[in-house]
Amino acid sequence: MFYEPRLRNHGLSHDPLKALVAPRPIGWISSMGADGSINLAPYSFFNMVSDRPPIVMFSSDGKKDSLRNVEETGEFVCNIVTRDFTHAMNASSANYPRGVNEFEKANLAMEPSRLVKPPRVQGIVAALECRMTDIRPLSGLEGLASPYTMVLGEVMGVHVDENILKNGRVDAPNLALLARLGYMDYASVESVFSLERPVLT
Ligand SMILES: Cc1cc2nc3c(=O)[nH]c(=O)nc-3n(C[C@H](O)[C@H](O)[C@H](O)COP(=O)(O)O)c2cc1C
Repeated sequence: MFYEPRLRNHGLSHDPLKALVAPRPIGWISSMGADGSINLAPYSFFNMVSDRPPIVMFSSDGKKDSLRNVEETGEFVCNIVTRDFTHAMNASSANYPRGVNEFEKANLAMEPSRLVKPPRVQGIVAALECRMTDIRPLSGLEGLASPYTMVLGEVMGVHVDENILKNGRVDAPNLALLARLGYMDYASVESVFSLERPVLT
């Protein structure tokens, strides 16, 4: 089949596009408002888009609290979600009013960050302390309106639990990183293989 997302002519009950651009990592974003209020919410329109310098992005469907906080204070932390945090991550995605601390709602403790004000999730295996570099409202061709705004930030500090390292490398199968698929589906990364890049001679 072939369809054009603009025309929504896929003939299915759900557009399969998000199930095809998958798995997507989940950035569990902690942020702080100008008033000092703390926020935590998951974003699967999230990824690392440069490694020199390291830049990550998340994209907000409308002006959600995380976006507002980054606009106000310019900082955020990406907590990296593993399978054991699945339910807490999901609990923190409820649509609480601005000012409600989702750490408390999801029974999570806050661990202070080193370089930025928003705290990280205590017990998380990895967290990226970021400073915002750019906030870009998105649009399609011919100015087709999008409700999304992309937040980009440079990773200033990285927390890694050394227990997840094996021979100095991140031991992915033991980590069970959580990822978003389409619909209400998730995956955890458990099967991993290595592949060398081709060398032209
Ligand atoms: C796994 C997962 C991924 C999500 N990804 C996004 C996303 O990429 N963009 C978005 O706007 N909302 C996303 N959401 C919904 C937000 O987490 C939810 O709207 C939340 O209440 C936003 O919180 P905030 O207003 O405190 O930022 C996601 C929810 C879940 C459970």
